[in-house]
This record gives sequence, structure tokens and C-alpha cells, in this order.
Amino acid sequence: MEIEMDALDIAIYSVLEGVTDPVTMMSTIACLAFHHDKRFDWVGFYRNRGDNVLEIGPYQGKLGCLEIPFGKGVCGHAAMTGEGIIVPDVDDFADHIACSSETKSEMVLPVFNEKDELLAVLDFDSNRPNAFDQNDLTLFHNILKTVFADVGLEQIAKKP
Ligand code: SME
Repeated sequence: MEIEMDALDIAIYSVLEGVTDPVTMMSTIACLAFHHDKRFDWVGFYRNRGDNVLEIGPYQGKLGCLEIPFGKGVCGHAAMTGEGIIVPDVDDFADHIACSSETKSEMVLPVFNEKDELLAVLDFDSNRPNAFDQNDLTLFHNILKTVFADVGLEQIAKKP
């Protein structure tokens, strides 16, 4: 499918109109974002499946790590603090988990629903140093807030 890619947020909202399944949401966002911008060499979700462990979700790029404990790496840090984070140089982030030796910089955003439950994190890796800025963080913060507002944690977490 060819869509106008000037405004990534509008493209995402248009493709996901009426969608309620989180896998469909995550796959679509990962795909559209990855192909939107050459700075993005890996784009994907790690899902909050319970037990303070993030598990790989839909992504685009080379093979990602399968599980990341809360508090570990940039993704685990974002899950634990609930804050988006930009890492201009991954070598300066002591706890960075190197899924690819080519990655130079990274941005991770937590994904919350409207009840403020953590559903996932969205991870961007770039092979370029200092690839991400505050505009990227704001753009994806707004997209995630809008798209995942009505998703329940029970749609993501493992059944007890
Ligand atoms: N670098 C991440 C791990 C995920 S991969 O890059 C896809 C981190 O430190 O959390």
C-alpha cells in the first residue's frame, strides 16, 4: 500500500482508524516509522508482559533481544522511570544493551494507556550518532498517547 508519508502522525492515524488490536497497532507504527526516516535502523516495541520483564513485540530491523528486565538497558530504564529518553551516544550509557554493534544512538518512549498503565516501550536505534532530538520524542509521545489510549493491560500481559 502506498500512502503519503509527509506527516507520519497523520498516516498512522489514518491507517489505524477503528483498530483495537495492539499487535496491529504496534506492527503498523513500527513499519511506517521505520520506512519514514533513514535515521531509523531499528524500530520496535517491547511489551510489558508482567513480572517486570519486557518481551519483544512487533519490530522492523535486524534481530532484537527477546527479553529485557525492567531497569536494564535503555528500554528497561524507560519502563522503570516511565519517561522517554534520548541517548546521543550509546557508549556513554553504562547499561546499554547492544543488540547490534552498529547502533550509535537510541531513543526509547514508554507506552501508556489512558489509565496510566505501562503497556510497552517503543525503541528506536540509529547507526548514526546523536540521531534523535526533542521533536522526535514529542512526535512519538503524542502518537503513542493517542493510539494506545483505550488498550487494556490485559491485552498485553500474560494471563495469570
Ligand atoms: N539497546 C536496547 C536494547 C534493545 S535493542 O537495541 C533492539 C537497550 O539498551 O535497552
